[in-house]
Amino acid sequence: MGFTTSAFSLKGGSLGRIPRHVAIIMDGNGRWAEMRGLPRIEGHKRGAERAKEIITAASESGIDALTLYAFSLENWQRPDDEVSVLMRLLESYLRTRFNELIKKGIVFKTIGDVWRLPENIRMLVKDAEIRSSNNSGMKLVLALSYSGRNEILRAVRKIIESGIKPEELTEDVVESNLDTAGLMPPDLIIRTSGEKRISNFLLWQAAYSEFYFTETLWPDFTKDEFFIALRDYQLRERRFGNITVRSGTQDVS
Ligand code: FPP
Repeated sequence: MGFTTSAFSLKGGSLGRIPRHVAIIMDGNGRWAEMRGLPRIEGHKRGAERAKEIITAASESGIDALTLYAFSLENWQRPDDEVSVLMRLLESYLRTRFNELIKKGIVFKTIGDVWRLPENIRMLVKDAEIRSSNNSGMKLVLALSYSGRNEILRAVRKIIESGIKPEELTEDVVESNLDTAGLMPPDLIIRTSGEKRISNFLLWQAAYSEFYFTETLWPDFTKDEFFIALRDYQLRERRFGNITVRSGTQDVS
C-alpha cells in the first residue's frame, strides 16, 4: 500500500487517529549546508523556513500541539557567531512569521531555561505567549535553551521549595512542575538526519512516545514527508505496557 500525503486523507483515514502532540528534533541543518559548500547558517535559515511549512501542515492536520526543539541547552556551547546568528534568526521569526501564525490562531508557548536567552528574545517570547494565550488553534511549543534533565532538575527544585512531604510526591506533582505542565505527552517524536537518539529532549514526557527516524536532513523535510510520518504513526499499535490499543489518542493506565 502506498502512503498518502495530504492532511485531508490522514484525517479521513480509517487506520487511526491523528496524534495529539507531535514533537520534532530538527537535526541536520549544518550538514545540509556543508554538503553544499555553504556556511552553516544557511542550513539554519533553510531549516527555519521548513519549520514554518511544517507548523502550517501540522495545524491543518488537526494536531493539538507541535513541539520543536529549536535550541538546546547544549547548543550554547557552539561557536559564538553560530549562537548569535541563531538568536537573530529566532528574533526575526518572532517579529514576523510567528506573528502571522498567532494572527491565524496559533497558541505560542516555550519550554526551557529561558532565563539564559538574551533579554530582547525573552521579551518577544513573553509577548507572543501573552498575545496568543486566548487563541484556540494548535499549540506551538518552542523548546529554547532546553534540556530534559535540566527541566527535571528545575522541577525538583520547585517541588522541594514547596515543602511537600515525600509521601505526597506523585507523578502528577512532578508533571505539574515541568515546563510542559498542562500539555499532553508527545504521541510521536520525529528526528531527522539519520541520528537515532533522544539528545536530552522531553525525557520525562517521552515515556510512551512513538518514534519516527528519517535520514532526511531537516531543511529537506517537506510536509509530504511529515504526512508520511503521521501515516506511519497511524499504523502503530500502542500498548502503554498494557494489551493492544489502536495508535492514536487513548490513554491507558
Ligand atoms: C540542528 O542542526 C538544528 C539546530 C541546532 C537548531 C534548529 C534551528 C532551526 C531549525 C532554525 C531556527 C528555528 C526556528 C523555528 C526559528 P545542526 O546544526 O545540529 O545540524 P548538524 O547536526 O548537521 O550539524
